[in-house]
Amino acid sequence: MNFQTDELESEHIAKPLDVQAIRADFPILHQTIHADRPLVYLDNAASTQHPRAVIESIENCYKQSYANVHRGIHWLSEQSTNNYEHARAAIAEFIGTQNDREVIFTSGTTHAINLVARSIGDTSDPSISVSADDEILLTEMEHHSNIVPWQQLAERTGATVRFVPMTDDGQLCMNSLSEMLNDKTKVFAFSAVSNVLGTINPVAKLVAMASQWGITTVVDAAQHVPHEPTDVTAWNADFVIFSGHKMLGPSGIGILHGKMEMLRAIPPFHGGGSMISKVTTEGYVPGEIPAKFEAGTPPIAQAIGLHAAVDYLNGIGLSQIKQHEQTLANLAIDKLQSEIDGIRILGPMGPGQRAGIVSFVVDGVSPQDISLLIDRHGIAIRAGHHCAMPLHEKLGINSSCRASFYLYNTVEEVDRFVEALAQTLQKLR
Ligand code: ALA
Repeated sequence: MNFQTDELESEHIAKPLDVQAIRADFPILHQTIHADRPLVYLDNAASTQHPRAVIESIENCYKQSYANVHRGIHWLSEQSTNNYEHARAAIAEFIGTQNDREVIFTSGTTHAINLVARSIGDTSDPSISVSADDEILLTEMEHHSNIVPWQQLAERTGATVRFVPMTDDGQLCMNSLSEMLNDKTKVFAFSAVSNVLGTINPVAKLVAMASQWGITTVVDAAQHVPHEPTDVTAWNADFVIFSGHKMLGPSGIGILHGKMEMLRAIPPFHGGGSMISKVTTEGYVPGEIPAKFEAGTPPIAQAIGLHAAVDYLNGIGLSQIKQHEQTLANLAIDKLQSEIDGIRILGPMGPGQRAGIVSFVVDGVSPQDISLLIDRHGIAIRAGHHCAMPLHEKLGINSSCRASFYLYNTVEEVDRFVEALAQTLQKLR
């Protein structure tokens, strides 16, 4: 019985995606731009596109079931509240937690990290709170949204922010991490996958190392949850954070997953309606979790759209999506290295070390010029510092180009991208 199950699972993982069938679900992908160029969308690390199921779920919400949640004692509000809470339950299951109360809706990853940093700063619990002698540990590969809120916490408390270095090929230096963890470290915040290098970090191992010192762990999983199976229970981090718009869902919604004991220990970040159990002229009593962290009218239609996105991703299979993206990234790297003179590809090259993100620079050519001109071929990539200035500084560059893949990208699109890059460079050199 077990043998058969294993066999079925491995067949499932090896089965390639039916990309043409997937693409048929995404209306935006079927257009030509700049006269007659088919759109090739390779900016998925910035934001992803939406299948019909997500678009229709939002439309249906507004047409049939929209009202404010947890407020009205009327039919429409009950429908809306049920749909909103079903979304929470589906997202909890998607990330491997049985307790959907641990899932907090926020407006995005940036909001969620600010929530955690602010609330850690405001807690009176000495095992979590940060003060002047303490250290906050980040890594050199973080997005600004996982740097600045911690720098602000350091400004408020006098704590010191330290950065775990990365190796030249963009992996975390584990020996340095071991040396930097100490009894002053109160927080270790790091990304599961680098938004520039695609580096896949060993989250469970990093959490285990920090936990030995009783350190609060915060995982920016914005580039992980959309692209491969995520199990927050196995990771065992105190907080795991990600965004809806990077996983086929709408913008304006993100998730903070927190361990229940941590959510109890930190105070609410925002005050207002919904997050209280009682308010008097003397003060307030916070509401139950998760309401405690969801002040004001939450992103209702966005939660419903994200539920549809989760259902869609589950229907395809996250293991297959990961395999597909890695195939495209490896193909892109091989072609770029063999066909483009003077290219430097950033990030690790070992098998399984990189998600579907390929950033690069070309000798003597500005990444912004490349992005501008390759767009004329219909190819959408991102150029700039990708909200990761310290990472670029470490690599000795100001900016880079980034192609990032998702389940609807094809091998032909990789070919067209590399061909268009070669033609672009001929013009620029
Ligand atoms: N965080 C997004 C990116 O890396 C915007 O492009």
